[in-house]
Amino acid sequence: MGNCSIKSLRNDDINKRKKKEAFFNQKSKVIWMTGLSSSGKTTIAKNLDKKLQEMGFFTQLFDGDFLRKNLNKDLDYSLEGREENIRRAAEISKMFLNAGIVVISSFISPTKKIRQLAKDIIGSDDFIEVYVNSSFETCESRDKKGIYEKARKGFIKNFTGIDSPYEVPENPDIEINTEEYSIETLVKELSDFIIPKISLCKANK
Ligand code: ADX
Repeated sequence: MGNCSIKSLRNDDINKRKKKEAFFNQKSKVIWMTGLSSSGKTTIAKNLDKKLQEMGFFTQLFDGDFLRKNLNKDLDYSLEGREENIRRAAEISKMFLNAGIVVISSFISPTKKIRQLAKDIIGSDDFIEVYVNSSFETCESRDKKGIYEKARKGFIKNFTGIDSPYEVPENPDIEINTEEYSIETLVKELSDFIIPKISLCKANK
């Protein structure tokens, strides 16, 4: 398998995961997308997911807005609530990773501590951090869900960028700027970066 080794797993886990990856003819990774609300994370994630599936990759998308309606509906937006949200999201992402699936996880994941927690759970070799960058002003002006307005009026507390922090990633694996480029351009840039990392050595995709 050439350079397809997986360092951070125990031997039997490696074998199980390698078998699954071989079955799917892909190398599993977690593509972790971080950025402000309305930065374009979900749109990019959905388009990337679609593109990879069309190319024959087996993927699973996890998204903050969705998980917070079901599995994580008991959690709030305090930093503790967000940490638990991300811990669970990372644990599920890891389960799918070990099943040989390419995972796209899209969460604000606002602090370095929280993103480090996700990286520690998933394993640094399998964690690809994508910073979806858009200025706070642009995100607020998009406000598709009307939540910035609610936060400004005080109906939503602990809102990221208003009364709760967003710490910009210092060293993401890749940064994409949704203010400057179209979704199509960014999905192409991102998929060009990701595809070599998820292609098995004898890829026939
Ligand atoms: S995270 O900080 O814990 O990673 P997550 O990505 O799951 O957040 O959820 C973010 C989504 O929840 C936002 O896109 C927005 O629609 C909604 N939301 C509701 N309340 C808040 C809040 N106080 N801060 C940020 N997003 C919020």
